[in-house]
Amino acid sequence: MSSAVWPYPAHIAHRGAGRLAPENTLAALRAGAAQGYRMFEFDVKLSGDGSLILMHDALVDRTTSGSGRVAAMTLADLARLDAGSWHSAAYAGEGVPTLGRVAAWLRANGLLANIEIKPCPGREAETGAAVALEAGLLWKGADVPPLLSSFSETALEAARRAAPTLPRALLLHTLPGDWQHRCLALECVALDAHHEALDADVIAAAHASGLKVLSYTVNDTARAARLFDWGLDGLITDSVDLIRPVAR
Ligand code: G3P
Ligand code: MG
Repeated sequence: MSSAVWPYPAHIAHRGAGRLAPENTLAALRAGAAQGYRMFEFDVKLSGDGSLILMHDALVDRTTSGSGRVAAMTLADLARLDAGSWHSAAYAGEGVPTLGRVAAWLRANGLLANIEIKPCPGREAETGAAVALEAGLLWKGADVPPLLSSFSETALEAARRAAPTLPRALLLHTLPGDWQHRCLALECVALDAHHEALDADVIAAAHASGLKVLSYTVNDTARAARLFDWGLDGLITDSVDLIRPVAR
C-alpha cells in the first residue's frame, strides 16, 4: 500500500554513522546527529534469549571483543562485549545497544529510525514479528513511525502481520522481474534498492506503482546527485561528513 504522505528526510545515515564511529552503536548515532543527520538506518536481530539488539553480522567477531553467534548469546553475554575498540581506541568500551535504548535516545532527540530487520539464519519470521511488535510499543504515540526494512520477505510478512500499520520497505540488491509485485504484496511503502540497480526508469516505475524509492549505500557525492535527479526519495550513506543532509 502506498503512503500519500512521506514523512522521512532525504538523507539517512547508514549503521548509525558507522564509518566515523563504530557501526550500530549509540556513538554512531551521535556522530551522525552531529553532522546534521535526522534519520538513521541500523541493523536489528534477536539475541539467544529473545532481546532485540543492534548488530549487522550473525557473529559478533568482526565488530566486538567477543566471538561466536549472536543467536547463541544472552543479552547479558552481549552486554559484556566492547563494540567500539575494533573501530578505534576513542570508542573503547562502547556497548552493544538494545533497540529499546536506541529508540529512547532517538525519540528524546527528535530523530527518526529506519530499522533494518536483519535476522540470524533461520529466525526470519520470529525476528520480523519481534521487531514490529517492540517497535510499535517503543514508538507508541510518535508523530513519525520507524520505517521497517528487510531483505527477508519472510521477516517483512511477519512484521506486516504483527504490526500492520508500521511502514515497510523491501530491500533488494538486484531487481527481479516481479519487484513491484513483491513490494506491493508486502504492502510496502517503498522499494529500498542497491544504487546500481536503479535508474530513472525504475524510479519512475516505482512512483507509478505508488512506491517511494530508497537507495543504499551511496557514498559518492556525484552518484547521490544523479540519484536525486532521477527522483530518489531517500539516500542511505556512510558519507555523513561529505553528503550534506539538506532538505529536498
Ligand atoms: O538498509 C540498507 C543497508 O544497510 C543494507 O545493507 O549489509 O549494510 O545492512 P547492509
Ligand atoms: Mg543495514
